[in-house]
Amino acid sequence: IRRKKKAVIDHERVASYAFCFDIDGVILRGPDTIPQAVDAIKLLNGENKYNIKVPYVFVTNGGGKPEKQRADDLSRRLQTTITEDQIIQGHTPMKDLVDVYDTVLVVGGVGNTCRRVAESYGFKNVYTPLDIMKWNPAVSPYHDLTTDEIACCKDVDFSKIKIQAILVFADSRNWAVDQQIILELLLSKDGVMGTESQTYHDGPEIYFAHSDFIWATNYKLSRYGMGALQVSIAALYREHTGQELKVNRFGKPQKGTFKFANKVLTHWRQGVLDEHLKKLSIHDPNASQADILINEEGEEIINQSKLESYHYSDSDDDTDDEINKVVGKREQKTDKITLELPPASTVYFVGDTPESDIRFANSHDSSWHSILVKTGVYQEGTVPKYKPKHMCDNVLEAVKYAIEREH
Ligand code: G3P
Ligand code: MG
Repeated sequence: IRRKKKAVIDHERVASYAFCFDIDGVILRGPDTIPQAVDAIKLLNGENKYNIKVPYVFVTNGGGKPEKQRADDLSRRLQTTITEDQIIQGHTPMKDLVDVYDTVLVVGGVGNTCRRVAESYGFKNVYTPLDIMKWNPAVSPYHDLTTDEIACCKDVDFSKIKIQAILVFADSRNWAVDQQIILELLLSKDGVMGTESQTYHDGPEIYFAHSDFIWATNYKLSRYGMGALQVSIAALYREHTGQELKVNRFGKPQKGTFKFANKVLTHWRQGVLDEHLKKLSIHDPNASQADILINEEGEEIINQSKLESYHYSDSDDDTDDEINKVVGKREQKTDKITLELPPASTVYFVGDTPESDIRFANSHDSSWHSILVKTGVYQEGTVPKYKPKHMCDNVLEAVKYAIEREH
């Protein structure tokens, strides 16, 4: 049995549970920040009576800008540092389609922004409805391109381009133009403008970043979202062809987005723990030599399900049973400590829309705990279509509830 050296964990701890936040209706309402959000984030960053840091990420159905830009905007509003690794937008998981399609039409958002986002994901030939309007303004007869719009356009002959997929990234700024072009391509032969399929089975696939029918802005009543555009396009398609449109959906409450969110959350929790370990070896120079970590009370920490509770070994051939259960190993050459994390004990998901947020958090994994707040789409006094595990006034109350539940 190996001799065990000990090191003490520094006083700040990292939680085994984690948070996921919806953005619109929880953190923001249109251009306004929901006031309680700032204090909610402070609590998670360690300013709580338990001195514990709680990892968190954001899963929004919104989009139309790079993840980095959204992270910077949230950092400013929430008076903290949020990084792009903490942000999942409706279109973020579409990164996984980069190897599937070479030529795509990206719909939504302002000017060139969504094209830039798609290119940053690795898509090669990215076109927009504005490019098509520039090619032939008669495509949608009642809209003349503005000078700003023309400045964003690529010069392309769309009678020679095969659009393989339509990716609706963000809310359409011009339903008339976008619907006309989307429908034409769906009914086309091989995604070429100006052609018509006989069977209606030759057009490109269509993907929507989310299906929210309504969403919460700074207007009193909820506004129609991308889901409403989807309903409208499907109705036009049915009217024209007598057939049902096949739609590929991302965003909450879809399972693909849930899997993606879990991947991002695991990565982020690992980062928070690594940061914690780095501090540990700064505070205690013996820590990197230690085989076992003990807490401040001097107890050996062996509960692998707790992020703040771990020990590690620097040897693979250790015969001690307890040591063989380690969740982390020190890399011998670099002396760097790495941990393989167990899944979060509970993920608290705070959202305002029962149909997307609560359904999302309730559907895929029983360790997720849904919390519905009253600052967005959900209206007090109504019965939510999907029942949350807990309901509270705002995001600050949600964070307080979860922390007290855990301690
Ligand atoms: O367009 C965005 C909206 O539909 C919802 O955003 O943050 O509430 O998921 P969020
Ligand atoms: Mg919302």
